[in-house]
Amino acid sequence: MSDAPARPGADPTPADPGTTAGSTAGSTAGRDAGSAAGDWRLARPEAHAPGMPLVTVIGDGQLARMTQQAGIELGLTVRLLAAAPDASAAQATGDVVLGDYTDPAHVRAVAADAAAVTFDHEHVPNEILDELIADGVNVQPQPSALINAQDKLVMRRRLRELGAPVPPFLDITSVEDATGFHDAVDGAVCLKARRGGYDGKGVWFPEGREETASLVADLLEQGVPLMAEKKVTLVRELSAMVARRPSGESVAWPVVESVQRDGVCAEAVAPAPCDGSDGARAVLRDAEALAVDVARELGVTGVLAVELFETTDDAGQPQIIVNELAMRPHNTGHWTQDGCVTSQFEQHLRAVLDRPLGSTALTAPVTVMANVLGGATDPATPLPERMDEVWRRFPGARIHVYGKEWRPGRKLGHVTMTLPVGVAGGGVVPSPERGAGETTGPSEEQVATLRAQARLAAGYLVDAEWEDGWAPE
Ligand SMILES: Nc1ncnc2c1ncn2[C@@H]1O[C@H](COP(=O)(O)OP(=O)(O)O)[C@@H](O)[C@H]1O
Ligand SMILES: [Mg+2]
Repeated sequence: MSDAPARPGADPTPADPGTTAGSTAGSTAGRDAGSAAGDWRLARPEAHAPGMPLVTVIGDGQLARMTQQAGIELGLTVRLLAAAPDASAAQATGDVVLGDYTDPAHVRAVAADAAAVTFDHEHVPNEILDELIADGVNVQPQPSALINAQDKLVMRRRLRELGAPVPPFLDITSVEDATGFHDAVDGAVCLKARRGGYDGKGVWFPEGREETASLVADLLEQGVPLMAEKKVTLVRELSAMVARRPSGESVAWPVVESVQRDGVCAEAVAPAPCDGSDGARAVLRDAEALAVDVARELGVTGVLAVELFETTDDAGQPQIIVNELAMRPHNTGHWTQDGCVTSQFEQHLRAVLDRPLGSTALTAPVTVMANVLGGATDPATPLPERMDEVWRRFPGARIHVYGKEWRPGRKLGHVTMTLPVGVAGGGVVPSPERGAGETTGPSEEQVATLRAQARLAAGYLVDAEWEDGWAPE
C-alpha cells in the first residue's frame, strides 16, 4: 500500500509519508473532533449538488483529494471522513466529517445518505463495513474483496487458488518457520508484515539465516503478523490497473512501468516501455488480462491496481509475478490525470456508482509521472517559487501538489510530463487502438528524455536544485 492513513489520536510515525497533513495527524483538532460526536463538523447539505449522488470517501489523503477534484467536475458530492480539518483532502472538500475510521459510529454517520461508500486506504476494519452493509449501505469495494488488499497472506493464498503467478510463500508464526523457509529458498527471503504496511514499511530483506531468525523473533515478539515470500530477481516492476463496476463491466488501462526506490514509488511510465519483441508484448498483454481476471474473480469494484514484478523464467523469457493488490486509485495511476481520456479518480467514482466506465485511450503516446518525495531538509526556497522555476524550464510539466507539510520521504506531490501527440516516431504503441490515433509510438530516446525531464522537475521541487546544474540564461 502506498499511502498510510492517519487516525485521530494515533501517533504519526516520524517518516510517515502518509496521507494526513503533517502537523495535524493526531493533533488536538482531530482528536477532539473524533472523540465527541457533538464536536463533529457535520455533513454540510448545502455543499451538495442538487439531484446528484453523494459518494462518501473514508480517508483524507492525496488520493481522496484528487478524487474530490474528479467529483467536482462530475457535479457529484464527495463527503469525507477525515482525521483532521487540514488533512490533504479535507482542505479541498466542502463536506467533511471529522472522525476516526475505526469507530463504527463515525463511519456510520459519514455513510448516511451516500449512494456509495468507498475508501482512499484499506484500513477500515471489515467488521464495521459488514455492519454498514447489513444496514443497507452500498459499500464499494466490499469487504470480501477488500480483505485481499488488507492481508498479504490472504491475498497470496487466494491468488494461488486462482492460478495467478505468485512467488513461493509461507505463513510465519515461529522462528523455525522462518529458518525452514530460508533454507527452502536458498536464502532469498522477503519478510512481510501481513497487514498495515505501506511504502516499504513492513517489508524486510534479511541477509542470511541468523539475521532472518533474529528479525523474525523480534517482529513476532512485537506482535507483527508475518509472512515470508521468495525474494524475486526483478527486471522491473509493473502495474496493471483496471476499473470494475458492481454489475460487471470492467475496463483496463495500459500496463505501466513503476520504479520503486526504497520501497516507495518514485516514477511511473505509461505505457510500460516495450521493445516490440513477442515475449515483451506477451508479458504486457498477460498482465492486463490478469488484472481483469483478478478483479472479476475477487469481486473487486472501483479501481484495482495489481502491482507486478517482471522477472525471467528458467529459459530467460520475461515472466510476471503478482506482488500485491490495491483497491483504490493508486500512485502508479496518477499519469491518467494527464495522459488518458479518463483519469483513475473519475473512473473510480463512476465504477463505485455502477455507472458506465470511461475510455482508457491514451491522449499522449507516453506519459511519465515522477513523485515529489520530501528531501532530507525542507529547502529555503518556497514551494511556489520552486514551481515557477520548473514551469519556466519545462512549460509542459504538470505539477500536482497535495497540500501536505514537508517531512523526509513523504509524498508531497507529483509531476507528469507527456510527449505531445505528433512528436512520437518509431517504435510501437502496445495497444494501437488506445494510441491517441497513432500507429507508431515514441522512440527509446524520446522516452528516456521525458523520464529525465520529469525526474529533474520533481527533483527541483524537492530540493530547489537542478540535478544537472541547469541555470537560466
Ligand atoms: N518478493 C519480493 N522480491 C523482491 N522485491 C520485493 C518483494 N516484495 C516486495 N519487494 C519490493 O518491495 C516493495 C514494497 O513491497 P510491497 O509488498 O509492495 O509493500 P508495500 O505494501 O509497502 O507497498 C516492492 O515494490 C518491491 O520493490
Ligand atoms: Mg506495494
